[in-house]
Amino acid sequence: MKSVWSAMLLCISGMVVAQTPVYLDDTQPIEDRVEDALARMTLEEKVALCHAQSKFSSPGVPRLGLPENWMTDGPHGIRPEVAWDEWYQAGWTNDSCMAFPALTCLAATWNPDMALLYGKSIGEEARYRNKNVLLGPGVNIYRTPLNGRNFEYMGEDPYLASEMVVPYIEGVQACGVAACVKHFALNNQECDRHRVDVDLSDRALYEIYLPAFKAAVQRGKTWAIMGSYNLYKGQHCCHNQILLNRILRDEWGFDGVVVSDWGGVYNTREAAYNGLDMEFGTGTDGLSVSASDAYNHYYLAQPFLNEVKAGNIPESVLDGKVRNILRLMFRTTMNRNRPYGSFKNPAHAEAARQIAAEGIVLLQNRDRVLPIRLDKTRKILVVGENAIKMMTVGGGSSSLKARYEISPLDGLRARVGDAAEVIYARGYVGNTDGSYNGVVSKVDLSESRSADELLDEAVSLARDADYVIFVGGLNKNSRQDCEGKDRESYGLPYNQDRVIEALARVNRRTVVVLVSGNSVAMPWADRVPAIVEGWYCGSEAGNALASVLVGDVNPSGKLPFTMCERLEDYHAHALNDPLVYPGVGYKQFYKDDIFVGYRWSDLQKSNKPLFCFGHGLSYTTFEYSRVTLDRKQMTAADTLRVRVTVKNTGRRAGAEVVQLYVSDAESSLPRPLKELKGFEKVMLQPGESREVEFLLDCTSLSYFDDTKHEWVAEPGRFEVLVGASSGDIRSKAGFELR
Ligand code: BGC
Repeated sequence: MKSVWSAMLLCISGMVVAQTPVYLDDTQPIEDRVEDALARMTLEEKVALCHAQSKFSSPGVPRLGLPENWMTDGPHGIRPEVAWDEWYQAGWTNDSCMAFPALTCLAATWNPDMALLYGKSIGEEARYRNKNVLLGPGVNIYRTPLNGRNFEYMGEDPYLASEMVVPYIEGVQACGVAACVKHFALNNQECDRHRVDVDLSDRALYEIYLPAFKAAVQRGKTWAIMGSYNLYKGQHCCHNQILLNRILRDEWGFDGVVVSDWGGVYNTREAAYNGLDMEFGTGTDGLSVSASDAYNHYYLAQPFLNEVKAGNIPESVLDGKVRNILRLMFRTTMNRNRPYGSFKNPAHAEAARQIAAEGIVLLQNRDRVLPIRLDKTRKILVVGENAIKMMTVGGGSSSLKARYEISPLDGLRARVGDAAEVIYARGYVGNTDGSYNGVVSKVDLSESRSADELLDEAVSLARDADYVIFVGGLNKNSRQDCEGKDRESYGLPYNQDRVIEALARVNRRTVVVLVSGNSVAMPWADRVPAIVEGWYCGSEAGNALASVLVGDVNPSGKLPFTMCERLEDYHAHALNDPLVYPGVGYKQFYKDDIFVGYRWSDLQKSNKPLFCFGHGLSYTTFEYSRVTLDRKQMTAADTLRVRVTVKNTGRRAGAEVVQLYVSDAESSLPRPLKELKGFEKVMLQPGESREVEFLLDCTSLSYFDDTKHEWVAEPGRFEVLVGASSGDIRSKAGFELR
C-alpha cells in the first residue's frame, strides 16, 4: 500500500514543523484509507474511538485530524441538542426540527417512494445539524399492541418492513449520514426491556424478526446497527455472540458499526469479543457522580485498554472495531463529497405533509359520511384532547422540539376557513402534562371542569352540528405510546369510549379519528359511521388530517398491522401464558412462533380482526381483474410473472395498494395460510386501468428450516392471492414448484 504519510517533518528555515497528516485521498478505496489511518493510531487512540465522550458523541482522533462522531435520535426528526453529560436541553435556539410522521404512518403509506423521501429529508436535517449517525429507523415487529414503542416501528409484517426500510436508509445515507437501524433484535416490548431474556424458534427468528434487519444490511447497506437492551438466549443483545457475530457479521456480511443502545452494555469481555463496536449511554459510578473521567469507566474504555495492554484481549480484536468505526467515518465525516444538507427547508414540510396524508388510513366509512361536504355544512364540532395536544413532545427518545406542530383542530380550522364554523369541546381530560426532557408543550391543557360537565358540553354541542369529529386515541405519555413501559390495557384510556358512545347517540355523522401508533379496542365501532387511523403525523399532522377529512386528498393508507377486536385475539395474548408475554422471572418464550399478526388471525374461525392487515378504504372504488400467471409450473431457477389489472371504477382519482400474498398448499411444516410477498401502489384516474406485474422467485416461496438452518422452497402446489387487504382477496391462481 502506498504510504502517504508525506507530511511528516518539514524543515522550514531551519525549524522542524510537525505537519497535518495527509491521508490517502478520497480517490483511493475506503479499505486502503482505513488501513492507512489505523496504522497511524496509538492503542489509546484506538480504544477512545470505541466509547462515548458525551451523551451523543464519541471522540475522533484529534492528533490525526479525524473528527468526532455525533449521533442523534431519530427516527422521526432530529433531536434537540442536550447538555454534554445530561438528558436535558442545551438551550440552543437553532435546533427546532421538522417533525416527520411516526414510522407506523410511513409504513401505512405502503409506498417505498415515501420512505425514500422521508430518509432524504431527515438525512438532510441530520447533515445540516452536523450529525453523522441517525439513530433510526426501527424495524422491530409488531407482536403485541401493548408494546409502548410500536409507533416507532413499521408494523407486523417482515416483507412490508423490509421494503420500507431499505429506501429510508438509502435516502439518509445519500446525505452522508449513517442510518443506525434499531433495535437488533427482539426488542418487541418495553416491559422489562433491560432484563427480559427472549427465546424463540430459529424459524420465528429468521422468518419474522430478522428479515427487515437483513434487508437493511444487505439491500439498504446500512452503515450502522444498534443492539437492543433485552437478552437473547441468555446474553445481552449488545454483545450477543449469535446475533452479532454469527448472524450479522458472518451470515449477512455486515461491515458497518454496531452501536450499543444507551446503557445496554454490561461486560468488557463480551463487548470485546461479541461484535459491539461503540458503547454509549452506560451509567457508571463515575457518571452518576459526574466525575470528569466518567466515560473512561465505560466497559469499552479503560477496562478494555487494560485488558488489551495486559495481553488478555488481542489487539486484533480492538483493530476489528476500529476498522468498522473508521469505515463509518470515511463514509460520513471524512467524505468530502457529501452534500451539505438543509434545515428549515419548506421542502421538508411538504414531505412531512405528503407522507402523513398518504399514511392516514380510512378504516370505516359507512354511508359515505366522509369526505365532509363543505358546501352542505354549517357547523363542525371537534371533540377530544388529541385535537389540541402536541404529540411531537413525549414518547421517549423520539421526542422532538419541532419548529411547529399543526394540531388537528388548527388544521381543520385553517382548511375549512369561512366555509363553515368549526367549534371545539374538550370532551374528556387525559394527560395534561405536555413536556419532555425540558421541551415544554406550548398548549395549556389544564382543565377544571368535571368529566360529566365536559361530556355534557360536548353532547349538547353535538346535537346541533353537521359533523362531529372526535379526535382521541392514545398519546405519548408513559404507559401509552411511549418508550420504557408497555400499555396496561387494550382499551382507550380516560373513558373515551363513553364520550364516543354518547356523541354517536346524538349525531349520526360522528367520525372517530384515532391518534395513536397502536391498535385499540373499539367497542363502539358499529355505532359510528366513520373511523380514521390518524397516527402521530408530526409537524404537518393537522394539515394532513384535514386534507383527508374534507377530501382534498383521497385516502390511500393501509394498515401495517392487524387491528383485533380484543387483546386476546393477538396470538401473544391468546395463549394467556405469562411466559409468552411479558415473561416470567425475566424469561420469555415466543410460543406464538411464526404466527404473528395476520398469520395468526387467518387461522381463526371466529374472532376475525376488526380491521385486517393491509386494510384501508378510499373515496373511490377499485376493481381487480383475474390474476394471471405466465406459467403453471416453475423450478427453483425460474421467475414467475404475476399480472393483474386494477381499474378505478369510481368518480375520483385515487391510489390503490395492490397486495400479493403467497400460500403454500402442501408443506411438511405448518405454514401461515398466506404471506405478503409483493405490493404496489398505483395511482389511477377515474375509469383508468393499469396492469400491475409482480415477479416471484423461489425466495418468495421458502420457509426457514430450523434443522437444516437454511431457507427451503418445498416442491408442491402454491397459490398466488391478490387483493386489497389480507382479508379482501380478489383473485387467486395456482401453480406448482417442481
Ligand atoms: C433508546 C434508543 C435511543 C437511545 C438514545 C435509548 O433509550 O432505546 O432508541 O436511540 O436511547 O436516545
